[in-house]
Amino acid sequence: MQVVTLAGPARPRVGPELRELGIIANGGMFVRGGRIEKVGNADEIEPLINGDTAVVDARGQVLMPGFVDAHTHPVFSGTRVEEFEERAQGATYQEIAARGGGIQYTVNATRATYEEILAYEAWRYADWFLRSGTTTIEAKSGYGLSVEDELKILRVIKRLDESTQLRYVPTFLGAHSVPPEYRSRREQYVSLIIDEMLPAVAQEKLAEYCDVFCETNVFTTDEAWKILTAARCHGLGLRIHADQLSLSGGAQLAAELGTVTADHLEHTDAAGIAALKRANVQPVLLPGSVYALGSSRYPAAREMIDAGLAVVLATDFNPGSSPTPSIPTILSLAATHMKMTPAEAITATTINAAYSLNRGHEIGSLEPGKIADFVIHACHDYRELAYFFGIEHASQVYCAGKSYK
Ligand code: NIG
Ligand code: FE
Repeated sequence: MQVVTLAGPARPRVGPELRELGIIANGGMFVRGGRIEKVGNADEIEPLINGDTAVVDARGQVLMPGFVDAHTHPVFSGTRVEEFEERAQGATYQEIAARGGGIQYTVNATRATYEEILAYEAWRYADWFLRSGTTTIEAKSGYGLSVEDELKILRVIKRLDESTQLRYVPTFLGAHSVPPEYRSRREQYVSLIIDEMLPAVAQEKLAEYCDVFCETNVFTTDEAWKILTAARCHGLGLRIHADQLSLSGGAQLAAELGTVTADHLEHTDAAGIAALKRANVQPVLLPGSVYALGSSRYPAAREMIDAGLAVVLATDFNPGSSPTPSIPTILSLAATHMKMTPAEAITATTINAAYSLNRGHEIGSLEPGKIADFVIHACHDYRELAYFFGIEHASQVYCAGKSYK
């Protein structure tokens, strides 16, 4: 069994470190009480087996930490299959958004859906994440855009965290779009976020992070600055959707504020990359949305790695721009379109992603003391995860030592 441990320094990996996976060619792992006790050569692990030990035979397969997906929008009602079909016939994502479709279409559906039903819909996606080998996701709100609907989504996320084996790290994204009822008085929506939504979210402890969609025709850098600064006062960590559809100053703002992550970055230039480096911001790259929008403008991953940034890759799972929960698909896109090696992509979806969620001490690698979130993939070599695409590699998935699949 090839064990991909990701063991290494207790911090996000940069530069050539992204290629160091800490592989044990013929390895084993011993788990007790939901935690990893020992990882080593098979002949070091076998003597620990006694009559009470449940043995999982993974001969000829690959053992890895569960994937950590550090950017998802997993709670929404319905789908956007109609728009998907229209885009296939030439309409663009921005055109559809401008006429009130896009995010607003999903907001309308989500507002009209009871908490229980929303949880039921999202439960299906939890299964998809787990089946494909993801054991932790960052989960954003953002399809409510009113005090009660944003809280409803965050409560669903909390409920899913408690009732499924998937771990959810909640992010408040009230600043995902300006809803139509505020279009002519957008400053009042920004005030609603700052004066009502953020205090309520903080009071109920429903989020660890706050995010803003900073983009031309969405939220300006000034608005994003105000919202993120207020969020910081409530003790929330900061993330930002930056430079996705245009070079709109998001990466520069991330650096100025010292956010934990800057996400997307398809249009970020060399000055933006340098600013992120100076401020130690982790880029979260989302090739699934580039692919699904039919664009060819992938973020400059190689330049970011060369600049010494602790790159993260994630799915951006959402009903509009990235309808995939599959990290293996992201590994394939990263290798084919962003020229990241399979090893770099795996580091970016495990240990680096875990650090971007303040969980690097608990998950993201197979090291003694960490939570036993691990996956056995039915392949002989970890590179097959990125190479054979469009299939489900995970044959067994464990969360805190408990079998899911
Ligand atoms: O990350 N960029 C903004 N939000 C999502 C899209 C959400 C949607 O289209 O519903 C994204 O791509
Ligand atoms: Fe997103």
